[in-house]
Amino acid sequence: MKRCFLFFGFLLSTLLPAQRHPSRMGAQHRYRSPLAGGLERVWVGPDWYGMRLQDWRLVQGRIECPEARPRRPIRVLHQLRVFSAQGSGEYRLQVQMGPLDPGGTFLPGAAAGFWVGGGNDGVHPWKSALVHHRPGKNGGMFCGLEASGQLVFRDNEGGDARGGWGITGPLKKGQFEKFPATAQEGSLPPGWRKEGVLLRLWVRVREGKATLVLSVRPRDEALEGGIEARLEGISAGLVDGSFGLLSHLGTKRVAKKPGRGFWFRRFAASGSLLRKREMQFGPIVGCLYTLSRGVLKLTAQMAPLGPGDPKEARLEIQEPGSGAWKERARAQYDEDACTFRFRVEGMEEGPPLPYRVVYGARVSGEVGSQDFAYEGVLRRRAKSREQFVIASLNCVKHFTGGPLHWDGSALWFPHQDLVAKVESHDPDFLFFAGDQIYEGDLTGIERRPFARARLDYLDKYYRWHLSFRSLTRTRPTVSIPDDHDVFQGNLWGAGGRKARRQDDGGYTMPPRWLKMMERTQTSHLPDPVDPRPIAQGLPVYFTRLEMDGVSFAILEDRKFKDSPTPLVPKGKFRNGWPRAKDFDPAREADVPGAVLLGKRQLAFLEGWAADWSHQAWIKLVLSQTLFSNLATIPEKATGGEVLPGLPVPEPGAWPKGYKLASDADSNGWPPSGRDRALRAWRKAFALHLCGDQHLGSLVHYGVDRFDDAGYGFCAPAVANTWPRRWFPPQAGKDRREGAPPWTGKFLDGFGNHLTVHAVSNPQKTPYKPARLHQRMPGYGILRLDRKTHAITVECWPRAVDPREEGAKQYPGWPLRIPQREEYGRKAWGTLPRIVWEGRGLPVVQVREAKTGTLVYALRSTRKGFIPFVFEPGEYLLRYGDPDGGSWKELRARAKKN
Ligand SMILES: [Fe+2]
Repeated sequence: MKRCFLFFGFLLSTLLPAQRHPSRMGAQHRYRSPLAGGLERVWVGPDWYGMRLQDWRLVQGRIECPEARPRRPIRVLHQLRVFSAQGSGEYRLQVQMGPLDPGGTFLPGAAAGFWVGGGNDGVHPWKSALVHHRPGKNGGMFCGLEASGQLVFRDNEGGDARGGWGITGPLKKGQFEKFPATAQEGSLPPGWRKEGVLLRLWVRVREGKATLVLSVRPRDEALEGGIEARLEGISAGLVDGSFGLLSHLGTKRVAKKPGRGFWFRRFAASGSLLRKREMQFGPIVGCLYTLSRGVLKLTAQMAPLGPGDPKEARLEIQEPGSGAWKERARAQYDEDACTFRFRVEGMEEGPPLPYRVVYGARVSGEVGSQDFAYEGVLRRRAKSREQFVIASLNCVKHFTGGPLHWDGSALWFPHQDLVAKVESHDPDFLFFAGDQIYEGDLTGIERRPFARARLDYLDKYYRWHLSFRSLTRTRPTVSIPDDHDVFQGNLWGAGGRKARRQDDGGYTMPPRWLKMMERTQTSHLPDPVDPRPIAQGLPVYFTRLEMDGVSFAILEDRKFKDSPTPLVPKGKFRNGWPRAKDFDPAREADVPGAVLLGKRQLAFLEGWAADWSHQAWIKLVLSQTLFSNLATIPEKATGGEVLPGLPVPEPGAWPKGYKLASDADSNGWPPSGRDRALRAWRKAFALHLCGDQHLGSLVHYGVDRFDDAGYGFCAPAVANTWPRRWFPPQAGKDRREGAPPWTGKFLDGFGNHLTVHAVSNPQKTPYKPARLHQRMPGYGILRLDRKTHAITVECWPRAVDPREEGAKQYPGWPLRIPQREEYGRKAWGTLPRIVWEGRGLPVVQVREAKTGTLVYALRSTRKGFIPFVFEPGEYLLRYGDPDGGSWKELRARAKKN
């Protein structure tokens, strides 16, 4: 259980840059990598992190790197548990290794050995754990053996690498260059490829300069020979920090058959500079849970297990009185999604309860397993009795282009700066609106075959867990996938049909992959309210969640939505944008029958709006994107493709030359479908939370008139490459005093009514790195006031520490929204005042007497309530306590105000 104990320690500590908290290894300063024998699996073990995941595997006690294509050079397996400290001293690494193909088919330049010197003081160790593919500042160096039988030192820092969306393509000239001053003695006997070699590196640092001695000899001790090479006087920064194994498959496409890569075994490290750190990857990568109406659902995300691994895990919850751990559920492993899904019924709301998921993993030796536990806390109601606090996040890009540096100047993962700030608000509930991953981010993309596309998704999705698990471990979380999560740039799901091209409407990835992806992100949500599958047998997850009287409708605004390309041929829509010259999207783009939420979700909303049981006092709608098109593009542009390259305005500027966007990827299209959705949820006085746009914004939706529906809040992106902006050509009407010209009343690019209250437009900032901060990243915080039912919406820049005095939110925030404004339609008259004498505060339902149609429902903030109505007529008024089942009913005719 020693390992189990260490793992707890890791999870409970916040990861600081490792060098700030060095823990000595003890007198010996030794580390030997444990590896499980007799197994085959992608996950090497908790001490290693593969870049990429799918490029490494464990096979019968050996580590293998089978990736063998020149367009995927420099594969690194990062050692997480030990690293080299800065300062004077020495360390030694050794490993046995050899070619996977004993016949020795190699590409010229193929090589394998040690990667050393990743990061340094101040570089978060998880950023260093991303190093692969291409050199960049803080990328360290390579010390290894070439296929030719020569030892080699290569520089992984120089070469001016840049990237856009991901880091892809073969190495360029001048990248991964050899260090010239290499003296080499001896030779390897032929036949070393068969049994492999023993590679050793000795690094000594004195006064900022390092001497490296690299040696190799046949693993078979009967064979004679060996080589030693020295490199002297290089900067200590190239050898301190993280290290690992590197397999590099050459720079030229020569061989007809690509090489097959290298194997490694018995990695060991020692020396006075060696330090240990509490950093691991797997077996349990993260857990997500929700608790609603007495049901706990918890999904444990596992590293990919192999056929020989145990396939069962258990969920334990601490008993409130005795503190003893009690098993509450067991789960079987999902081979595609790599999850254990737990369900516990009869879980009431109350004080926090510690939980842990326990899994016996095979991590060393030929047999047996060691228990690992992932520990967290079930937050079963808000911490404060005054307010319920929600954090709203979305769009998690780790690399947003520019010069490639393997540090915090170019890599945003693991977002520890932002996570600490979100944590300081101590939210009771987390919402991730989508784009938890970006296809192609950092590592490029593999769309097929299924097995590779699955691992490619998981590799990216694990980075989301690694980033946010200190938040999700102790808080209920709703995460819903958006377009990039399904490996598409835009998504019109069209009821789940298969799409050959994205614009046809539907999904381009196969159903098995889609189901896998959706299970990783949504299987911990409350059960779907209407679980009938859609086209291709795809599942749905739209549902409701009730916690501490806060009632959420969780929607899928992409899954049923039609694509404009086939429905509006006149507009010649490509990638969501009308490209036809003589086409006016504000008048011509609407198709009354076009689907946005679809009948099933509208029916669900209708029922949800009326139902305020489970002590509900406030309602929110959660979905992917805004139900308006709050964006502008340059006058000459026909689409949004120009956004990443547009100039960044000065603070407070109102640049000219922009026009309203008509982007059908937003829920401004289809307008009729949009109106149906807003009409449905305004009956619940629900605030809408979303993401996707990368433009933090708070708007008041209008259907027939301005402000006659609810508010929508799009939280800023965690980090983005696509800085949308709102610079309307005309100033908005009816602005609040002192408010900027881009606020106020507008008709958007599809003619939808929209009142803009606040927008976090891109602008030049003093914060570094500018590449991150001038695209206005951040997060939202919502404070739901239990007494007044008002919501205060906060919008925080990623750069600002809310704990500091005078910390400022994005301009225009915070804003307090009274519940009544969530159905902002002007009242025509009233019904007789009601007074509830029963338990608690009454829920009031108003229906049209003739049709029974719900006008609205809400919970009053007082015992007495004067119902308002929007039109003359006779109404059915019901009020009371849905949980106690006691209602009063009356019919009344409305009186004009
Ligand atoms: Fe996004």
